[in-house]
Amino acid sequence: MATDLDALQAEFQVAVQQASDLAALDQVRVAYLGKKGRVKALMKGMGKLPPDQRASWGQQVNRLRGTVQQALDDRKQTLEAARQQAALDAGWLDPTLTAGTRPTGRLHPITRVLAQTIEYFTGLGYAVASGPEIEDAWHNFDALNIPKDHPARDVWDTFYTTDGAIPRTHTSSVQIRTLETREPPLRIIAPGRCFRHETIDATHGAFFNQTEGLYIDRDVTLGHLKATLEGFVQHLFGRTLKTRFRPAFYPFVEPGLDLDISCIFCDGKGCSICKKTGWIEVIPCGLVHPNVIRATGHDPDEWKGFAFGMGFDRLVMLRYQIDDIRRLYDGQLALVHGV
Ligand code: PHE
Repeated sequence: MATDLDALQAEFQVAVQQASDLAALDQVRVAYLGKKGRVKALMKGMGKLPPDQRASWGQQVNRLRGTVQQALDDRKQTLEAARQQAALDAGWLDPTLTAGTRPTGRLHPITRVLAQTIEYFTGLGYAVASGPEIEDAWHNFDALNIPKDHPARDVWDTFYTTDGAIPRTHTSSVQIRTLETREPPLRIIAPGRCFRHETIDATHGAFFNQTEGLYIDRDVTLGHLKATLEGFVQHLFGRTLKTRFRPAFYPFVEPGLDLDISCIFCDGKGCSICKKTGWIEVIPCGLVHPNVIRATGHDPDEWKGFAFGMGFDRLVMLRYQIDDIRRLYDGQLALVHGV
């Protein structure tokens, strides 16, 4: 019987060494240690032995099983190491390579402030509207109560194309397009690009973004305008800022106003950015002029409203404390602190 054990062990050793991959090795394991395997068979043979030999036979078979298991484990380790080495040699994995850092992509500050703006106004029931960037004089000027040859037209340093079209100087043209195509009551905001003939410097570019707002209903008062815009600056800057409204002139509103916020750089104490005034102008606004309502085919006795048009790049610069407008467009945003 003992010779059976020796023979089996010798045979097994050969089989293990010949197993050249993990699948073959598993077959060897099943053949020897599986339920119908050869070691199990030896155990079963124990019943045929005289009782006094059974205990020592059992011990020997158990020892053999231990040896077999150990040899299988060793061989498995060897084969796995070889497999890994082959993969390394084939060159698809280099665990010594350090993972390079990748710059994280982020939304552009203009996109972010726009998203916040849309969030606020849609929450108040506004729709987002748009109009063409190349306009005609009617939508950019005439219907907005800016007659031809009126000096107010000079305020907007207007580009004209050779055939007389106007790259819009402000998004107020969308007020007209909306009033011409929709029945009041209505509420819209209209973000978009505008163009003015300016010398490019830290606060001016040849184009810029504005977001227009228009609210038309019966019985609209300055109180509605004030609450809406004060709520907006608080939403945007995330804290309660002091605000004030100053009289201003825009032909398409009456009265016209400028909304100032207390300077976010010096907390209203006075610094170089607010020119020592403690205030920063952020949103021109006012009650829609009856002539605008009339020009678009509505009855100014029935319909009132307010409008506003904020210089969006400026707002973004204030929100993220960016000191040069060119930073928004020159691809160097990573240099902007905290953006
Ligand atoms: N369109 C004006 C501008 O560009 C801003 C404005 C819009 C003022 C709406 C009042 C009401 O200067």
